[in-house]
Amino acid sequence: MDKIVITGGARLKGEVRISGAKNAALPIMAATLLTDKECIIDNVPNLHDVSTMARILRALGGRVSFSDKNNRLIILNKNLTSSDAPYEMVSTMRASICVLGPLLGRLGEATVSVPGGCVIGNRPIDLHLHGLRKLGADIKIEHGYVAAKAVKRLKGREIYLGGPFGSSVLATANVMMAAALARGETIIENAACEPEICDLAHFLNSMGANIHGIGSHVLSIKGVNKLHGAKYRIIPDRIEAGTFIIAGAITKGEVRIKNANPQHLMAVVNKVRQAGSRVDVKGRDICVRGGRQVLPTDVTTLSYPGFPTDLQAQMMSLLTLTRGISVITEKVYPDRFMHVAELNRMGSDVHLEKGSAIVKGVKNLSGAPIMASDLRASAALILAGLVAEGITEVRRVYHLDRGYDKLEQKFSLLGADIKRVKE
Ligand code: UD1
Repeated sequence: MDKIVITGGARLKGEVRISGAKNAALPIMAATLLTDKECIIDNVPNLHDVSTMARILRALGGRVSFSDKNNRLIILNKNLTSSDAPYEMVSTMRASICVLGPLLGRLGEATVSVPGGCVIGNRPIDLHLHGLRKLGADIKIEHGYVAAKAVKRLKGREIYLGGPFGSSVLATANVMMAAALARGETIIENAACEPEICDLAHFLNSMGANIHGIGSHVLSIKGVNKLHGAKYRIIPDRIEAGTFIIAGAITKGEVRIKNANPQHLMAVVNKVRQAGSRVDVKGRDICVRGGRQVLPTDVTTLSYPGFPTDLQAQMMSLLTLTRGISVITEKVYPDRFMHVAELNRMGSDVHLEKGSAIVKGVKNLSGAPIMASDLRASAALILAGLVAEGITEVRRVYHLDRGYDKLEQKFSLLGADIKRVKE
């Protein structure tokens, strides 16, 4: 298994180009199941979760090819030979659940393994099931699988999709995809309005769907009889861009983040500025100049346009180095603090109190062998390693490979002393 070895201390300097958004690519790949025509998707990041989704589409009978040279996926789901998404694949990636809606929409049936919990906490799928049932699907949970069937064509309805933590990104995606081929109009209230959901809706419209209200909390989907193929370009990955913004700040570097969408990152830009760094937006580029001191800042994660939970761990790495106390509150996944114990092994002073992390700033972090617990935690530990004294070894980097495209190469080009080592 690989590990990432970092010698801390380098100030990052230079330009970095942001890849396409993983969380847009995965549901868009699932959406191609809605048509028997070819879809061409550009700006797809080359990472493990994308390969997993490609394997699932192939298992269903699809043809998928990916060119690393121009990050283009070509997908043809002409004759689907199966409607079953098996446990072996779904268990490695929760986003596989988003094949449920399109399979139901196109074939009238789907069997998808129930994704289990994961280290960031309990991750129920009740809202997905509620929405699809409202459209007319009969859904049972049997032997660890969601078995969904629609005896007649799905029928548009008014659906409220809110849970105890607000809207759900992938439940909105699932219901929107199923509704695209339903009879009549579906209204989703309390829909997620994350940029990745907007991207999916735009992709569906480019296939001939009729979706309005994109970017708001109320989506109208007028079902159509058939969807056609499409050529589409995925939006830039705001979580990758945010990781590099924080990297510039934490290393007191000067980093120009190219090909981002700054509009998607205003909550992050605002917090990093409050934490003492200079952040300038120049067209599609974001320029970060790390401040001499990191200032204590309180952060609360919320659904979009709030501060994203997927950047909470990385922001915590930055806030470990202030001269005061910051409070980080998780409102999306209250248990998403697995990185705290590892950061504390590097010398930070963070303790947990009822869904919040109290981060007392320390002067320095010190390099240590550490274990990544999940995708975004891995990135946070790498950020900490970039400024820690001495050597940090991050193990279990397969988490990182799930969701970041060539992260260590990109850091290395910015001047970090970072390498991947085979163990
Ligand atoms: C997506 C993202 C993930 C991000 C998350 C929140 C993808 C592939 N993943 O995950 O990176 O961290 O959004 O921005 O896009 N919930 C329920 N019932 C449900 C579904 C969700 O109660 O049926 C709860 C969850 O436990 C959580 C909250 O709703 O507390 C938000 O989760 P959700 O938006 O569904 O996350 P995902 O779509 O799975």
